[in-house]
Amino acid sequence: MDMQAIASKNGNFNLKDYEGTRETFRWEDVNKHFTWNDTGKVNMAYEALDRHAEDSKTKDKIALIYSAPEREAKKTFSELSKESNKFANVLKKYGIEKGDRVFLFMPRSPEFYAAFFGILKIGAVAGPLFEAFMEQAVRDRLQDSEAKVLITTKELIARVPQEELPHLEKVIIVGEVPDDQGNYIDYKEEVDGASDQFDMVWVDLEDGMLLHYTSGSTGKPKGVYHVHNAMIQHYATGEWVLDLKEDDVYWCTADPGWVTGTSYGIFAPWLHGVTNVIRGGRFTPDDWYHTLEKYQVSVWYTAPTALRMLVSHGEEKLRSYDLTALRHLMSVGEPLNPEVITWGLAAFNLRIHDTWWMTETGAQLIVNLPALEIRPGSMGKPIPGIEAAIVDNEGNELPPNQMGNLAIKEGWPAMMRQIWNNPSKYESYFINGWYVSGDSAYRDEDGYFWFQGRLDDVINTSGERVGPFEVESKLIEHPAVAEAGVIGKPHPERGEIIKAFITLNDKYTETPELLEEIRVFVKTGLSAHAAPREIEVKDSIPKTRSGKIMRRLLKSWELGLPTGDTSTLEE
Ligand code: WTA
Repeated sequence: MDMQAIASKNGNFNLKDYEGTRETFRWEDVNKHFTWNDTGKVNMAYEALDRHAEDSKTKDKIALIYSAPEREAKKTFSELSKESNKFANVLKKYGIEKGDRVFLFMPRSPEFYAAFFGILKIGAVAGPLFEAFMEQAVRDRLQDSEAKVLITTKELIARVPQEELPHLEKVIIVGEVPDDQGNYIDYKEEVDGASDQFDMVWVDLEDGMLLHYTSGSTGKPKGVYHVHNAMIQHYATGEWVLDLKEDDVYWCTADPGWVTGTSYGIFAPWLHGVTNVIRGGRFTPDDWYHTLEKYQVSVWYTAPTALRMLVSHGEEKLRSYDLTALRHLMSVGEPLNPEVITWGLAAFNLRIHDTWWMTETGAQLIVNLPALEIRPGSMGKPIPGIEAAIVDNEGNELPPNQMGNLAIKEGWPAMMRQIWNNPSKYESYFINGWYVSGDSAYRDEDGYFWFQGRLDDVINTSGERVGPFEVESKLIEHPAVAEAGVIGKPHPERGEIIKAFITLNDKYTETPELLEEIRVFVKTGLSAHAAPREIEVKDSIPKTRSGKIMRRLLKSWELGLPTGDTSTLEE
């Protein structure tokens, strides 16, 4: 990709001297920002919430702005702290103890966040489930985690197979309680009757806090287990990468059912005491722009899939909104197409900063920092305190420009501590002191990392390796193409050929001429061997809820194979 690097503008960034900080930084340096450094008393809920609620300067500051089509609410740090105390008291009344798993299966709402912190305050492990999960997905996760309590709603309870969940002792309903003879606890009734004072359960930094289930390429979803210690990295990246300042209004679009929605939708902003916008409901470009405008959002963390949707709706739409408060944009979850970065520069007059990390890593690892030059298509560089490398299958480091396993030196603060109930799966991530991500990438001479694909997605055609991301990026540069998913299709002579699934922008209709034009566009724009030999037009491209194109599913469809676990598929 011969895109021009984009220099950083002079700005008041929290991390100006990347190289210098890398050399001298130690993770212990971050400890001084936490109360437990002086008191020895640890709990994420204290650092992210109660600390601000106790401070006369911040207790009446707006912590949460909730905005959904049918409801808007604002909560100060003090209010959110009290409501979470009340909920912790409810859990206590029903016998919940440190280490118990308490799951949340409900849409984003102020109650969700109060309940979430209540769970942490009692020392229990929170398990947020995405509201779009259907019965199978809910069952798998509640069975595996042996959750004792579930907090859910009338609309979602039908997807909870209670008779198959022997460990589930209590179901707490937020909102209207169903009258189906079930044994439910009414959230509002209990919380209204509970004391707003609660004696925080102090824990150890290594005690469990969060279980996030994530799908691999095989088997059932696995429970990625995170501990309170992760706050060290959430704080540091909140400062360096999110570049948070006291007066920012921050918005992360991710749902808390996914790791971005907890690490960066809850922890990082509130560890910094920043006002956090929570948007519920489904999204359209107008909703996004409206939310950015209405709350004068200054820092926005979103996903390439959202940004691509904005691109396809054009710059004019954006021009009808006042987005002048916006100063910092970030993206995560899948490769950020260079074309989108170029568009962002023109449309927002801002750089879009790609960040790379995983559910398992708990926090950002490789990023484009505000103070660094951006090379479009690159994920950027490891944050201070992180050693990243490209390794072979034995865990030996490879030289620059050679593709291999993207790996991280074991032992960063937010790293998962277990795969729940599955120690051998956990062990399988590590080779020779490296955490091996399952992503393939290379590093250039200047230390920038370039994502190539999940290892199983890389295409080998006539002996040439092709990253599907490169082809997809090129495809969507064509004006007719809205979204694209590219797979390797087995071929007797060439090993694999490239097959592209695309959706067309509104004004275009499928003709053989158009498809040929798109093929030639990639052939001449990227390379002959990377041009798709087959292009199929679809109504939509299957994506996970976090926006990743499900190439595995495309491939299964193409080959007529079973589709495996599709519980994370966006409807
Ligand atoms: C992919 C999301 C390219 C990658 C926080 C990784 C990315 C997986 C990027 C983790 C990025 C995430 N560029 N690919 N900036 N960020 N990925 O667990 O394949 O939902 O392994 O965590 O998403 O997805 P997960």
